[in-house]
Amino acid sequence: MKIVATIAELRSLRPKLAGPVGFVPTMGYLHEGHLVLVRQARAENPSLVVSIFVNPTQFGPHEDFKQYPRDPERDLALLEKEGADVVFIPSAEEIYPPDFNSWVEVGKLAERLEGAARPGHFRGVATVVARLFNIVQPDKAYFGQKDAQQLIVIKKMAADLGMDLEVIAVPTVREPDGLAMSSRNTYLNDEERKQAVVLYQALNLAQKLYAGGEKDAKAILRQMTALIQQQPLADIEYISIADAETLEELDTVRPPALVSMAVRFGKTRLIDNVVV
Ligand code: PAJ
Repeated sequence: MKIVATIAELRSLRPKLAGPVGFVPTMGYLHEGHLVLVRQARAENPSLVVSIFVNPTQFGPHEDFKQYPRDPERDLALLEKEGADVVFIPSAEEIYPPDFNSWVEVGKLAERLEGAARPGHFRGVATVVARLFNIVQPDKAYFGQKDAQQLIVIKKMAADLGMDLEVIAVPTVREPDGLAMSSRNTYLNDEERKQAVVLYQALNLAQKLYAGGEKDAKAILRQMTALIQQQPLADIEYISIADAETLEELDTVRPPALVSMAVRFGKTRLIDNVVV
């Protein structure tokens, strides 16, 4: 496994990688959710590149960029075990030199849901992913359904900008009780962790109501809200039922619909979703 910190090194290595080249971009502090992406990419491609970069431009000024958990040594050991060929682990200056000044704006899709709650977030995500795609030149790039809107934004960016690669969605990996795996779960204290399972329970409730014939989005959202509010530490930021392609809110649920939410437990902000 080659560990590469500069764009120049990656550029000189890239022509030697047998295609198709699979790519998994991450912010590190790897858990089973990341590793499922890595394994799928490993299985589907003769060459596998993984990046580890905590991207400052996708964090808001009052968000957790500084506290975001980091453990590159452990990450590298895990990736070695999974058989990655190349790990790209650049410095912030490598990705954003002082005169960096080009940005990818993703329009309407980026203004809804997570984008409304985190202004500028998807501009930062799209910019860094475009930059990583240009550096790594992957044939297939793997993203988790856990970050459903990110996946939609990246697919749209790749299509709109004519990027010659396939964006592949990987289902959400969960803890045994249903909590979606996330690097941010490490922020939760014991009581918050116990109550956090309510996100998954609320998504299941939505699916059950829909399967039972309920098509009124407001009625479903009302019951989800009531369920989440039973957990005293849960503070709902948004709950949404939206068209899974345009992300416009739906009055009447019709597939494919994205049921998604952001809920705070103390200082920790959790997101989860399901497509019905
Ligand atoms: P990060 O949060 O590290 O996630 C890297 C990839 O792992 C993303 O595609 C994410 O959706 C996926 N992932 C995380 N938890 C998952 C889970 N429980 N199940 C399935 N997939 C999961 O997302 C980012 O980093 C960044 O925004 C990035 C794309 C790297 C750009 O900076």
